[in-house]
Amino acid sequence: MTSSTSLSPAPLRSSGSTDLKGRVTVPGDKSISHRALMFAGLAIGKSHITGLLEGEDVLATAAAMRALGATVTRMGDGVWEVHGTGVGGLRAPATHIDMGNSGTAVRLLTGLLATHDLTVTFTGDASLSSRPMERVFAPVALFGAQIMAAEGGRLPFTMQGAARPLPVTYELPVASAQVKSAVLLAGLNTPGNTVVIEQIPTRDHTEIMLRNFGADLDVTQADGKTRITLKGPADLKACTVDVPGDPSSAAFPVAAALLTPGSDLTVENVLMNPARTGLFTTLLEMGADLTFENQRDAGGEKVADIKVRYGPLKGTAVPADRAASMIDEYPVLAVIAAIAEGETRITGAQELRVKESDRIAAMVTGLVANGVKAVELDDGMVITGSGGARLGSANSSGVTGGARVETGLDHRIAMSFMVLGMAADEPVEVDDAGPINTSFPGFADLMNQLGAKIGAPS
Ligand code: S3P
Repeated sequence: MTSSTSLSPAPLRSSGSTDLKGRVTVPGDKSISHRALMFAGLAIGKSHITGLLEGEDVLATAAAMRALGATVTRMGDGVWEVHGTGVGGLRAPATHIDMGNSGTAVRLLTGLLATHDLTVTFTGDASLSSRPMERVFAPVALFGAQIMAAEGGRLPFTMQGAARPLPVTYELPVASAQVKSAVLLAGLNTPGNTVVIEQIPTRDHTEIMLRNFGADLDVTQADGKTRITLKGPADLKACTVDVPGDPSSAAFPVAAALLTPGSDLTVENVLMNPARTGLFTTLLEMGADLTFENQRDAGGEKVADIKVRYGPLKGTAVPADRAASMIDEYPVLAVIAAIAEGETRITGAQELRVKESDRIAAMVTGLVANGVKAVELDDGMVITGSGGARLGSANSSGVTGGARVETGLDHRIAMSFMVLGMAADEPVEVDDAGPINTSFPGFADLMNQLGAKIGAPS
């Protein structure tokens, strides 16, 4: 598999956009795409997946599941068929598994393989190799897996899965759907009840999809906590998964439309799981003109078309307890805040420091370089917005732009600054747009169809 890091850096420049109009779709949800391939790869029978995100992160999961014995076939654009091995039937891969840039893939697969009696070595790119893995090593060790890791609990690492796994009850020390999912996936091949307790609700795609694949899973609430009980060993049966559009990708055209006068745009078929919609709640509080049309249910997940129109926005204080439901959207919120009127205060978002890059440092550094008043907090940032969108070429947005930003192999930093360039007075550049392919292949083309001017710097 080709990872974005093996290519030479691809700088990208974004200049002032015209208004964004019409209807678009964005690529499939990344979280759901990873899970669809993993669960189908474990299920008995032939699963059919449509709308799969064909970004590098998810392709790394497809390659991993193949290496572990599942038959994974691309049938057409976003359409995949998977013949699974049955729970417990995965085989040792011939060589190490390269997870590229994807934290979700490596953490979920660590859980999955922790209770298979085989040895596996995971590697990744420079970004992934700097991210903490101890958060999954701790619970999988309780099941009986053994980990040999580099200094500080990072990639590369080798795991010997437990031959006779023991069921575990685990209270999450960090609000993380990846850790929750890793524990539940370890429970699939473990006799008895595996229990995960979470204090702060995180995305529940694993719970929803495992049920669709036939797992016996019980979710209860007590003392303000959620208790998820999975009965193992699970017997997963093939199923159909229609992956809706990724709200974390939809956030970029939505943001661009909010910042570009005259815009009136609809992003169709977007996942609306309440544990993923914190950005939209925040934007409504800032005065955004957003409506959610054609609301429906698909495979246990909520889906809608998002209609967005340009309008002035006001800064806000984002409640700390909203962090889990918009964790991947803070970078683009920071860009929106740069042009909203007044102060936007982000707190409770310390997890941003261990994403594909330190997103607090990356955003504040890039915003300041482009003429925005922004300061770092330990767990967030404060941005003072310019209060003015660019109304015609004669007017200023109050954000000068004009600087090049380092993305640190982080797709969302790259896309966020491309959106800033659409609204700023001068073009904005990023040093490397390659990582955008991990989650949003075709990003520049889609934005350019809508009115953006994104291309290689001349
Ligand atoms: C994800 C969970 C989140 C999110 C990531 C995808 C998932 O990470 O940031 O992009 O699919 O479970 P954490 O669980 O570490 O918060």
